[in-house]
Amino acid sequence: MSGINEQPPPVSPERPLVLAANRLPIRRTEDGWATSPGGLVRALLPIVQESKGSWVGWTGEADSSSEMIHVDGIDLHPISISDRELERYYEGFANDTLWPLYHDAIRDSGYRSEDWDAYVDVNRRFADRLAEISPPGANVWIHDYHLQLVPMFLRERRQDVRIGWFNHIPFPPLELFQRLPWRAEIIRGLLGADVLGFQRARGARNFVAAAHQLAGATEVADDLVHLDDHTVQVGHFPISIDVDEFELLASGRATRQRVSQIRTRLGDPEVILLGVDRLDYTKGIGSRLRAFGQLLDDGRLDAERHVLVQIATPTRERVELYQEERREIEQIIGEINGRHARLGFPAIHYLYRMLPVEDLIPLYRAGDIMLVTPFRDGMNLVAKEYVAAHVDGDGVLVLSEFTGAADELSDALLVNPHDEQALQDAIVQAVEMHRHERRPRMEAMRTAVADANVGDWARSFLDALAGA
Ligand code: ADP
Ligand code: G6P
Repeated sequence: MSGINEQPPPVSPERPLVLAANRLPIRRTEDGWATSPGGLVRALLPIVQESKGSWVGWTGEADSSSEMIHVDGIDLHPISISDRELERYYEGFANDTLWPLYHDAIRDSGYRSEDWDAYVDVNRRFADRLAEISPPGANVWIHDYHLQLVPMFLRERRQDVRIGWFNHIPFPPLELFQRLPWRAEIIRGLLGADVLGFQRARGARNFVAAAHQLAGATEVADDLVHLDDHTVQVGHFPISIDVDEFELLASGRATRQRVSQIRTRLGDPEVILLGVDRLDYTKGIGSRLRAFGQLLDDGRLDAERHVLVQIATPTRERVELYQEERREIEQIIGEINGRHARLGFPAIHYLYRMLPVEDLIPLYRAGDIMLVTPFRDGMNLVAKEYVAAHVDGDGVLVLSEFTGAADELSDALLVNPHDEQALQDAIVQAVEMHRHERRPRMEAMRTAVADANVGDWARSFLDALAGA
């Protein structure tokens, strides 16, 4: 973080920051709206506040009013989306077409033209609102796969603003991307931006290849593509977490007390293994649980000494693929507990709910081994949060090599989650790892995480945008 505040800000009241994301950073409370928790929101809100900017997005409720909401000193501009549009734009095109395709096509995507039409309509609504509310010369930063047409629609209406787009999820290789019936439209939509940001260098490379092949864009320099008199910078900007906040919360006395309570309540096992994920089929939760179950079956682990805690956040519950995934995971847990639990002591403790960060951090600290095993993940912040929370310098991270986090956390036990045997072996290696190996690995990972805060990430993207 050093030096960050010494440079001139890339955004200012003269060039305010206007954000657009599918979700507004708010949740409903008994007293009205409050800002949502999370490092991304904590990192971006002060930048928006200081530059007197605003945020455009969906409230999370169907047919909400589009009247401006003022929360914590910033103007929020809700986009009204009908229930039918949510079915087609959000559950359909964003989460049943793009999400699986962009994650290695790990599930079959649905390709329905009525979903595409709704995606176009909602993207246009976002762009129209941005065009109306953005002050002259503003920096407009658009987020994620829900809004890939917004750069082009906005550029059509406003040539004075700088447009950035950042993809929080992977951008797939051309061989997968070209399955999309509307592939050229998406590429042209994105090419309306001045800066396109990806989590990993390979995502940026995948985009450049697709832009060349599908839209005829030419690569004029290493990170610049050109089409129709417009040049776009394409780069990678790996996202991070609020490291200081995690370390602070993790070092507190309250957290230490909670950690010992958790251990006691789990029956004082020798080793606590932990998984924390949205219940998403990309996260490899089932494979991880099956690996743990197999190790218990084979006697390589023992349910009296080794306990797994799996926290799963409810997500996209109206999408069929998510309902199937939940049924499968809960069945696996039931089977494993049926074979290995003792009265009062399950082998797998499972919570299907969102937890406040004050509950999550003690769990991270109590976790001797963190299992992060997605089949594909843009970054995976849970891996970084676990490392930041381990202020004791101990703990082992088993990490899928198919996550963005694996680029930076090379001292984790990297594993191919498709390889059942490798997954089992990595878990055993983590359980048996001597502290003389654990501690230097954790130290190296803590250094890597501390080197790049979420504030640095926002700053580097906005610097690129300011220079565009
Ligand atoms: P994704 O964005 O795909 O959900 P990430 O790992 O990048 O995956 O980010 C997940 C975020 O959600 C992390 O900040 C994590 O702390 C939070 N999270 C995950 N599960 C829970 C839960 N059950 N309760 C509260 N927060 C959670
Ligand atoms: C991923 C996406 C985000 C999304 C989040 C939760 O992290 O990159 O854009 O907000 O998942 O998914 P949801 O569908 O509930 O917004």
